[in-house]
Amino acid sequence: MTDPLVEAALAVRQNAHAPFSHFQVGAAIEDAAGRIHTGCNVENATYGLTMCAERVAVFKAISEGVRARQFRRVAVATDTETLTPPCGSCRQILWEFCGDVEIVLANPRGKTETHRLRDLFPHPFDASYL
Ligand code: THU
Repeated sequence: MTDPLVEAALAVRQNAHAPFSHFQVGAAIEDAAGRIHTGCNVENATYGLTMCAERVAVFKAISEGVRARQFRRVAVATDTETLTPPCGSCRQILWEFCGDVEIVLANPRGKTETHRLRDLFPHPFDASYL
């Protein structure tokens, strides 16, 4: 059975701009209305200005009018046997915009793994401390 969110993450992965690492990542986020927002990693010659797929997807969704906390699930796709979890920076951004969402990791051969962000990102800093 295919999951449209995983399919969207796998599809957008093809758009990755990764000439330096050749590591292509796709991300897809489902909002509360059931709409899917996608992103791929976009690398930069400075390396440090590279943007991860997950953050591209979140920022695209926000800029299209989805409000923080109006997200249900996130899928992250890479072509690896050991599925790739979001990096630390993306976990922070996902926590702030999505809260304790479900994160589905996937590869093109149908392997998936599901986590809660709370488990991947325990004891987070967020606006509740400000
Ligand atoms: N990357 C992502 O897009 N998401 C992650 O959570 C991990 C890393 C990208 C950044 C860079 O373009 C490449 O993968 C290698 O680190």
